Amino acid sequence: MNSSIALALFCLLSMHFGCPTAKPATDNDEEIKDVKEYLKRFDNLDVDQILSSDRLLDSHIKCYLNTAPCIPIARDLKRALPIVASNGCKDCNDIQIKNIKKALAYVKTKRAPEWTQMVALYDPTGTNLSKFLTD
Ligand SMILES: *[C@@H]1O[C@H](CO)[C@@H](O)[C@H](O)[C@H]1NC(C)=O
Repeated sequence: MNSSIALALFCLLSMHFGCPTAKPATDNDEEIKDVKEYLKRFDNLDVDQILSSDRLLDSHIKCYLNTAPCIPIARDLKRALPIVASNGCKDCNDIQIKNIKKALAYVKTKRAPEWTQMVALYDPTGTNLSKFLTD
């Protein structure tokens, strides 16, 4: 966790000067092979810390909306979005659900217009994401 925060910060700083390792928004993410294994990265997600500044929140939202490269933790959450939209993250444990919910609820509350765009992108037919948040 500490090292991923360090990496996120490093990348955030270097993005300012053109981060060479930042992936273009159009890069296809490789398919998640083992969902449960993948979801483990949300066991210790410190939502308060990762979304604690407007700049970080901007960075997350641009990542989710494919308008800027993703810092690692934003990329992790972005890849979880289709899983959440398709089945409410049925493979998540309670802690993972709680953490992902908290992150998404934060975006929804703080940035309602962008949240609407996110729903259009990841949950086009409708209500799965908001249902996930209110369940
Ligand atoms: C929303 O949930 C339904 C029922 O679980 C599912 O069939 C549908 O594919 C989901 N929508 C998206 C965009 O994944």
